[in-house]
Amino acid sequence: MSTQPHRPVFDKVSLHQDIAKVLVDEVTIRKRVRELGDVINREYAHKDLLLVSVLKGSIIFMADLIRAITIPHEIDFMATSSYGAGTSSSGVVRILKDLNSSIEGRNIVVVEDIIDSGRTLSYLVRILQERRPASLRIMTLLDKPERREVDIHVDWVGFSIPNEFVVGYGLDYDEIYRNLPFIGVLKPSVYGAPE
Ligand code: PRP
Repeated sequence: MSTQPHRPVFDKVSLHQDIAKVLVDEVTIRKRVRELGDVINREYAHKDLLLVSVLKGSIIFMADLIRAITIPHEIDFMATSSYGAGTSSSGVVRILKDLNSSIEGRNIVVVEDIIDSGRTLSYLVRILQERRPASLRIMTLLDKPERREVDIHVDWVGFSIPNEFVVGYGLDYDEIYRNLPFIGVLKPSVYGAPE
């Protein structure tokens, strides 16, 4: 028997019922991820390359991206926390898990699922630059430019999206919905806002 507190979300038959609309469908995602993989293939051919995935949201994108990359490369992971259980950024970034090895002299591509305020990446870029990589570039699946609070240079964006609360393809609300295979807009009633 579970000792976890009851969460009504587990009573649901399908998470799809909480989705107001699909913003980016599976086929469109697959095509764009393949294009982004080709960008990496071209940019880093015959070069050392380490892809750094920022947990947890980027796991699905990272898993698909590295299979669209055909050149040799390594992967590593960092975990940060900025949101808690709410829907807006607190601006507080904590490192929950650091890289396993040194990045000095290496070509780094940071892989993110979404850039919102820009605070997470702004902080990450600052601490990673201090470790003196040969190069450091950023690839994000989604970008919400309207929400930007900190100026940050993003090298490659999969999709620029409007300011809507999106879940799926790795993105969560309160740690749920990451398994949806598309990017969907969550019904406002799910997070207690009027429809
Ligand atoms: C999300 C996302 C980014 C960050 C972007 O992570 O994956 O890392 O927020 O927001 P910002 O631009 O406002 O800083 P989150 O902290 O929700 O953790 P998760 O990836 O584990 O879901």
